[in-house]
Amino acid sequence: MRKAMAEAEVGDDVYGEDPTVRRLEEEAAALLGFESALFVPSGMMGNQIGLRLLVPRGSELLVDARAHVVRFEQGALASIGGIQTRTLETADGWPTVEALEAAFHPPSAYGVATGGLALENTHNLAGGRVLPPERGRLLLEWARKRGIPVHLDGARLWNAAVALDLPPAALAQGFDTVMVCLSKGLAAPVGSLLVSSCERIREARRLRRELGGGMRQAGVLAAAGLVALREGMSWLAADHRRARRLAEALANLQGIEIDPTAVETNIGIFRVQLPGRNSAQELVSAFAARGVWMAALDGSSVRFVTHRDIDDRALEQAIRIVTEVVHEVTNASRGFSR
Ligand SMILES: Cc1ncc(COP(=O)(O)O)c(C=O)c1O
Repeated sequence: MRKAMAEAEVGDDVYGEDPTVRRLEEEAAALLGFESALFVPSGMMGNQIGLRLLVPRGSELLVDARAHVVRFEQGALASIGGIQTRTLETADGWPTVEALEAAFHPPSAYGVATGGLALENTHNLAGGRVLPPERGRLLLEWARKRGIPVHLDGARLWNAAVALDLPPAALAQGFDTVMVCLSKGLAAPVGSLLVSSCERIREARRLRRELGGGMRQAGVLAAAGLVALREGMSWLAADHRRARRLAEALANLQGIEIDPTAVETNIGIFRVQLPGRNSAQELVSAFAARGVWMAALDGSSVRFVTHRDIDDRALEQAIRIVTEVVHEVTNASRGFSR
């Protein structure tokens, strides 16, 4: 990837003159079964542009309450896009057709009209769960029936495709806009893509510029993106296997709750119920002090992610460290209570 970056042919992409960016956009559009694609600096920018293309200002976006666009994008849908989010609590990351139907508002002179639907696949805060294709189809069918455009936050669509053994295009089909990340599991240093129709991507290019996301000799980054796109999916199955293995090891520890069978891709979330006053944050700090990096999501849950730089040896080392830390914390609090 570094070699490809060093050797990249470049031009000024703000003028559409960077051959490597163009190649990346063409390959991504073809791979996902869309007319056109736009290279953007981040997944967040791809989501924001995609949703602004679809959802009229002053209307409501139906979206799961734990979606990335709700929790981690600085309220930009509202502050920049003028889009109101109607968040739905869901069991596993995706609303039911019944919940959508109950939340739907047609345009009127009084209520806020429903302007769009956003889905996330895999779902980050649901622990990397994969949207079952049949459920996705039903949700898209509902949206079509109601005339509602649908955006897919497919930051980790590749992981869903590998987990289901389906081509990514099969999971992108039927959406109006799809965002995918080249960073994350595919391991490019930077970059995401938004795919849609030619007409929408022309407007997306303008919106990217409005957000300050027009990049000049971006071929250096696109070259890494091409390696990620062409080769990256081949190493995801190993990430998934390692995440499951880590979850199984964690499930054996007292005070840690996780269902390993729910770990479908490269993300796992476990609950911490250790004796004493050890919050998720304290546990994560103790792991980090020994070189294992995880993220506390709140006082009692922790998220881990496996990726290309964690091989089997590193994983076993992480399991050893995590086990030792949890035992030390448990023993220390036992000593304290005596
Ligand atoms: C589901 C999902 N969507 C979008 C993003 C945003 O990607 P980026 O960090 O490139 O902006 C992330 C990042 O973690 C994510 O998990």
